[in-house]
Amino acid sequence: MFLELRSVTKRFGGVAAVDHVDLDIEAGEFICFLGPSGCGKTTLLRLIAGLESLDEGAILLRGSDLGQLPARKRNFGVVFQSYSLFPGMTVARNVAYGLACRKWPRREIEARVDEMLDLVHLRDQAGKYPHELSGGMQQRVALARALAPEPAVLLLDEPLSALDAKVRETLRSEIRDLQKRLGITTIMVTHDQDEAMEMADRILVMNRGRIEQVGVAQDLYRRPATRFVGEFIGRLNVLERERWGDLLPPAGDLSEALLAIRPEHVRLLAADEAPAGPVVEGRVRKVAFLGNMTRLLVEADAGLVEIEVHGPLQQGEVGETLRFVLPGEHLSAVSAGPR
Ligand SMILES: Nc1ncnc2c1ncn2[C@@H]1O[C@H](COP(=O)(O)OP(=O)(O)OP(=O)(O)O)[C@@H](O)[C@H]1O
Ligand SMILES: [Mg+2]
Repeated sequence: MFLELRSVTKRFGGVAAVDHVDLDIEAGEFICFLGPSGCGKTTLLRLIAGLESLDEGAILLRGSDLGQLPARKRNFGVVFQSYSLFPGMTVARNVAYGLACRKWPRREIEARVDEMLDLVHLRDQAGKYPHELSGGMQQRVALARALAPEPAVLLLDEPLSALDAKVRETLRSEIRDLQKRLGITTIMVTHDQDEAMEMADRILVMNRGRIEQVGVAQDLYRRPATRFVGEFIGRLNVLERERWGDLLPPAGDLSEALLAIRPEHVRLLAADEAPAGPVVEGRVRKVAFLGNMTRLLVEADAGLVEIEVHGPLQQGEVGETLRFVLPGEHLSAVSAGPR
């Protein structure tokens, strides 16, 4: 295995910010740490970078324990959220900085800086100072600077979150293309599910310092292991078996107390439709027209259900009564917390 996290734990004042995290990362993988504010993403990334010390566990690179190896000896490239460029240095000198520290010969530094600036399409900005660049450009310089010393691993902590939506979108695919081209193992922290789903090979969903689930985006979406994952990645109706029992069709092994269904999988019935299974009736509480779809909040006796309808909507005024079914093939069991 390329990078291994073994029971990685970090406490601040007795509280575990990162709590027994285990993870194997393959060479060349792009992993996202995804989770809400305060769940421990940055702390975990800093532990890997060597910027924090472990309280328990181990981190191994190509089988060897990184132990007390300080950050600068790990040769990991790091990019943070806010532009951490040296303000008094030109773009070229920023990118050259790590190479000069590593005592690269001057000529090699020059060639490498050019190469890196080409990579992030900023060759013509080499002589500018950070304050003369846009936010997106500054993050591309930060990326070039992190990549210049040929790091073993690239660590990104919310590198796009300070940028506006359009720039963020462009940079998402730019970073992903670059990462694939270089084949560099990359870990990116984000609290943006779209970003994680678009960019990552695998996503690690964190909650209160612990792993809730690790997997490819499709699996997390289709088969969330916990209620938290299901609600964090996309939208989810969680139905208590006790309340909804009679209204659910017979389905496979749904032994958990909580069942889940995505809003787009709840099927509205036409007025004259009479399906074989149980039909639920509910009153429309809210209607949100979102362009490519309409989202309805419907109140049934057993509780509230969100329904998403793509395309034109025949029915669905606030106050109107609707009928719908919960198709068995789209119901899944979710556990209340981490296993
Ligand atoms: N140096 C520190 N001293 C004390 N507590 C800390 C320290 N760093 C982090 N924490 C605490 O550890 C927990 C995890 O923080 P962390 O910064 O890793 O979260 P995060 O997931 O990166 O959140 P965000 O999305 O807001 O950046 C929080 O409760 C935080 O207050
Ligand atoms: Mg953070």
